[in-house]
Amino acid sequence: MNPDATSPALAYQSGFGNEFSTEALPGALPIGQNSPQKAPYGLYTELFSGSAFTMPRSEARRTWLYRIQPSANHPAFVKLERQLAGGPLGEVTPNRLRWNPLDMPTEPTDFVDGLVSMAANSAAQKPAGISIYNYRANRSMERVFFDADGELLLVPQQGRLRIATELGVLELEPLEIAVLPRGLKFRVELLDAEARGYVAENHGAPLRLPDLGPIGSNGLANPRDFLTPVAHYEHLQQPTALVQKFLGELWGCELNHSPLNVVAWHGTNVPYKYDLRRFNTIGTVSFDHPDPSIFTVLTSPTSVHGLANLDFVIFPPRWMVAENTFRPPWFHRNLMNEFMGLIQGAYDAKAEGFLPGGASLHSCMSAHGPDGETCTKAINATLAPGKIDNTMAFMFETSQVLRPSRFALDCPQLQNNYDACWASLPATFDPTRR
Ligand SMILES: [Fe+2]
Repeated sequence: MNPDATSPALAYQSGFGNEFSTEALPGALPIGQNSPQKAPYGLYTELFSGSAFTMPRSEARRTWLYRIQPSANHPAFVKLERQLAGGPLGEVTPNRLRWNPLDMPTEPTDFVDGLVSMAANSAAQKPAGISIYNYRANRSMERVFFDADGELLLVPQQGRLRIATELGVLELEPLEIAVLPRGLKFRVELLDAEARGYVAENHGAPLRLPDLGPIGSNGLANPRDFLTPVAHYEHLQQPTALVQKFLGELWGCELNHSPLNVVAWHGTNVPYKYDLRRFNTIGTVSFDHPDPSIFTVLTSPTSVHGLANLDFVIFPPRWMVAENTFRPPWFHRNLMNEFMGLIQGAYDAKAEGFLPGGASLHSCMSAHGPDGETCTKAINATLAPGKIDNTMAFMFETSQVLRPSRFALDCPQLQNNYDACWASLPATFDPTRR
């Protein structure tokens, strides 16, 4: 902890979509107006907008910042020699793909160095679509980063993180997620020797809680379990590298101060974290499965009602009680494109091959479902209530086809025999046996 920073005490404000107010010094937040002629303590006022000014009030995201130096105080950015790993996108394929977990780096690697592109379905200049990355890191960032291309959804799979942002500090461990608004400056520090996880970069509408329909006013991810940090600032006059991602490229400049220097703020455009273990999982208590949309934690809508740009969906531990039912996820072909990851344990549709830290991609209309072994077991099981435990799989589900990156298609972690897991499905049809 540096001596010029405010109290290291970690504190959060609870809620989703709230107009939060927080100050690290008493009276730093102006009362009754946003931009007084003289802000308290000689601070500068800055508006941080995450949506167009004229969005409906319920969807508008903006935060007023009171900071030691305005963000405008920076020299020109220069394109960095070292760009994001993963290379350009590769060819489109309708084939089902699956990857083993990526290795940890052997060279010193911070969060930005360790980001590797896996797939994307939109150029970053379009206000829609997503890009998907893995991260692997073995040292804390000393620089500060912001992403002009989208909101970031971080899904740690291994190693705890301390994310120091302009608006305060988030601490994160596997089974928790964080969402960082587009353009928010932050520094990822490692609380363990190594860290690995998944990132969805959302180029479309900011993530929000899904509507609940007939479920009612409670259930799935509840608003009070989302945690946003309180204000926390660094007053450091020292050279600090600032890196931004802009239309897919990394650009950097050097500041003479820490840009994490916001002393007070109020607004709705905020970072937050959520503990996936708090998800109120809903399922059948009679027979069959509800659609997997009941597992949606957060959603980024498109302009087509009900069609998501990005759904973040989880498959947490849960009781299975359905009678006379094939209990694994059914065989299916979907409009949507599904990038899956596994945080811990095993996933109930696959007997083997889908490992924590690994991933799979099932694109629009590609047929998938339980593998042969899981299917045979499920057909012959004696059905009693049973709990699926020690598991946490998730899905980045998106309405546009994802192109794998060049890296994702060429890396040795790509499994070359994924289709074989369905080849062992037994031939059970018998026209004489009804
Ligand atoms: Fe699926």
